[in-house]
Amino acid sequence: MTKVYNFMNEMDQEVINFLGREIKNGKIVIFPTETVYGIGANIFDPFAVDKIFDFKGRANDNPLIVHISDKTMLNDIVFPYSDVERKLIDAFMPGPFTIILNKRDCVNKYVTGGLNTVGVRMPSNIVARKLIKAAGVPIAAPSANLSGKPSGTNIDDVYDEFNGKVDYIIDYGDSDIGLESTVVKVIDGIPVILRPGKITPEDIIEVVGAVKVHDTVLKPADLNEKVESPGVKYKHYAPEAKTLLIYSDYCSYFKETIKNYIIPNTCIIGPEEWKNDFDCKYYVSYGSENNLSEISKKIYKSIRLADSYKPDFIIIVGVSDKGEGLAIMNRLLRASSYNFINVDKFRQNKV
Ligand code: TXA
Ligand code: MG
Repeated sequence: MTKVYNFMNEMDQEVINFLGREIKNGKIVIFPTETVYGIGANIFDPFAVDKIFDFKGRANDNPLIVHISDKTMLNDIVFPYSDVERKLIDAFMPGPFTIILNKRDCVNKYVTGGLNTVGVRMPSNIVARKLIKAAGVPIAAPSANLSGKPSGTNIDDVYDEFNGKVDYIIDYGDSDIGLESTVVKVIDGIPVILRPGKITPEDIIEVVGAVKVHDTVLKPADLNEKVESPGVKYKHYAPEAKTLLIYSDYCSYFKETIKNYIIPNTCIIGPEEWKNDFDCKYYVSYGSENNLSEISKKIYKSIRLADSYKPDFIIIVGVSDKGEGLAIMNRLLRASSYNFINVDKFRQNKV
């Protein structure tokens, strides 16, 4: 049985303490973070960690992010780190930021998918932090979604997929950010973004003066080569229906191109401002075209809503990949299995 606690109006410290003890003792708790909901287990309990892989249907070599409640926990699980890494930690923790560091032996490889490194994140969400503190152990938590599906950003999505599997769910309303944390690994002294998020390349440059965006952020991973972030090998964020992403970096007007691809049972996912401009069966608005934070927040919910209409075809209107748009486009390219049209270049991928 899954028990749901609602913390939206009031957060009961007694319940937090109870859930913390339960996690420590091997139970699985879905909890809110500022990015997306996480499905959490005690990192030191292999049986509990195994349940997470099982419930999600996740590949064993796809490492989990380890969540801490304060920086003192960091030194227990990772080896000393460089100055560049320290600057990033000081600037972005707590927050929507994950850093890959060399793990100590106490972090078992079943958590890290066999790697000697571990991704560490200190959420800023108050419920998440209190829960980790109450558990007294770091919590391994991937996004709360079945493998391949968009991450859970609200109770309905999470409940549908995990009711009857996990022990507890904490309902704390819609996730603030809606897209997962920025994942960074410092390689040869330069921070490399393995997965973009709310913390942008520009934010990182401001702190350490340099940044690289890994090739796999906007391109599919070459499966014949060793990948830096195992997550990129797997299908992700995908709707059921065949999906086409149409975007332009320069012009905001490409409705005519979109119209050419509409078939009878099509659902378009696009800006609020365009909602009356197409003759298509369904239109799902992801928010204002001028507000990337709003689009981040709503994009997974929009994909799930589009899916619920059971359309034959989904067209997603892309955004510019600058600033926060980089994270959105990274998710949309993967949601569409790189089936995209870049209007600027007339470059067409397989449609
Ligand atoms: O915002 C988030 O990060 C959410 C919330 C719950 O904290 N968590 C999350 O976890 O998105 P998950 O498991 O869905 O994504 C983890 C990503 C994967 O792309 C994985 O490949 C990468 O982080 N990752 C984790 N550990 C890694 C490591 N040691 N080296 C390289 N990449 C790693
Ligand atoms: Mg995930």
